[in-house]
Amino acid sequence: MNILLFDSGMGGLSIYQEVRRRLPEHRYDYLFDNAFFPYGEQPEHIIVERCCSLITQLVHERQIDLVVIACNTASTITLPALRAALSIPVVGVVPAIKPAAMLTQNRCIGLLATPATVQRPYTSQLIAQFAAHCQVLKLGVTELVIQAERKMAGYAVDELAIRHALQPLTDHSLPPDTLVLGCTHFPLLKEEIYRIMPGVQLVDSGAAIAKRVATLLPHMATTITDTINGQAYCTLLDQDAHKKSRILIEYGFHSLQLFELMN
Ligand code: DGL
Repeated sequence: MNILLFDSGMGGLSIYQEVRRRLPEHRYDYLFDNAFFPYGEQPEHIIVERCCSLITQLVHERQIDLVVIACNTASTITLPALRAALSIPVVGVVPAIKPAAMLTQNRCIGLLATPATVQRPYTSQLIAQFAAHCQVLKLGVTELVIQAERKMAGYAVDELAIRHALQPLTDHSLPPDTLVLGCTHFPLLKEEIYRIMPGVQLVDSGAAIAKRVATLLPHMATTITDTINGQAYCTLLDQDAHKKSRILIEYGFHSLQLFELMN
């Protein structure tokens, strides 16, 4: 089967890794909309328009069987429109509030996401539904998204900038014992976050998404354990994108190509 993962940047690779680990017999393509990065700073209608047109075009061109929107910022607003436009399954990623609410001991959870995701009614509904008994400290941080992109392009990560961005949580009178990584870029910075907040439990959505994808695909009796290399696509082939192509090949993609919208 052909699976497409989509994000604004490199964050979706954190989801791809989990899905591929669980389902290595499929073929994976990866599309990232770096021309409009960061999504966390974009107006909603732009994200919905971009996601719908890019993804529907690629799905038809590459005969995709299942799409994973490996981006919380996009998933929290685009899923209804995308599902209406496509006849294949579309899986979204939303902040893992529910498992975090079950894990926390001190009943204080940090929600680390993009500025857009922390403001979404969808996120408030998740908190009201699953974490009403907890204090949830919401922190929208584009700095971490930028640092994750830097890391994936092979540049040094500015750990001081991450420390500074996390200060509202570390300086809080009751620092959270559990942190929801509500942006797919953040698992790429796990080591750095652990160094700044030792002992904190980090909760991301990767394993849950992989499980969900597995339930949606027909069971394939196969002995194949090697993934067939798919293609990575970006919407802006600049110098940074060229730097990232190295890591995309390491992750198992054939190469990085420019993806152009027809209209
Ligand atoms: N990786 C994305 C997310 O999960 C968005 C990052 C961005 O472009 O702001 O929300």
